[in-house]
Amino acid sequence: MHDVRIEVGLAVRDLEPTDLADLDWSGGPHHIRALAAAYERSFADQVELVLITLGNGLPIAVGAVDFAKRDAAGELWMLSVRDEWQSLGVGTILITELEDRIRRRGLSRATLGVEHDNPRAAALYQRLGYVQDGLVLDGWPEGPGRSYATVCFTYSKPLSLTGAI
Ligand SMILES: CC(C)(COP(=O)(O)OP(=O)(O)OC[C@H]1O[C@@H](n2cnc3c(N)ncnc32)[C@H](O)[C@@H]1OP(=O)(O)O)[C@@H](O)C(=O)NCCC(=O)NCCS
Repeated sequence: MHDVRIEVGLAVRDLEPTDLADLDWSGGPHHIRALAAAYERSFADQVELVLITLGNGLPIAVGAVDFAKRDAAGELWMLSVRDEWQSLGVGTILITELEDRIRRRGLSRATLGVEHDNPRAAALYQRLGYVQDGLVLDGWPEGPGRSYATVCFTYSKPLSLTGAI
């Protein structure tokens, strides 16, 4: 056995409606519907959706900022990296881009919620400067007549506006 290294170029761009068909790995049908609903809210400038693709166009990460959820802050939302591409730094690239989207609107705070039983994601956010500041009961539809409820830790991070584009 021997190691082989190749450089992989990634593209970071806005999500387009045609991308939704290639995002089944990011969650079930309810999740795709939630992404579609979030995309609709982007027309009202309430949400920005970001996609990371490989050089061949294959999407490997998706995430959003909700600008309507908190006062004077952007809420990172629906973060997902394709299983095979986790733990390589792609999530960090995604979060950095989403934070830049918040800065570009002149806002200096990022917030997010993490389910209580997702310590790995929580550790990543803490490493990136997020500090836990509360606890909320959250929930979302999971299919006809079914919904999922969970406890989430809320996190917040001050963003420096110096050098914001
Ligand atoms: C949480 C999530 C978005 C993070 O994305 P990610 O691409 O795995 O994140 P990163 O690779 O940037 O950082 C995470 C890990 O990789 C490690 N890492 C970062 N860069 C690395 C690199 N260049 N080489 C090797 N490891 C690296 C980090 O130390 C960290 O360690 P861990 O595996 O012990 O957690 C992703 O794991 C995911 O989609 N999980 C399932 C859905 C989910 O939990 N979403 C979040 C809801 S709040």
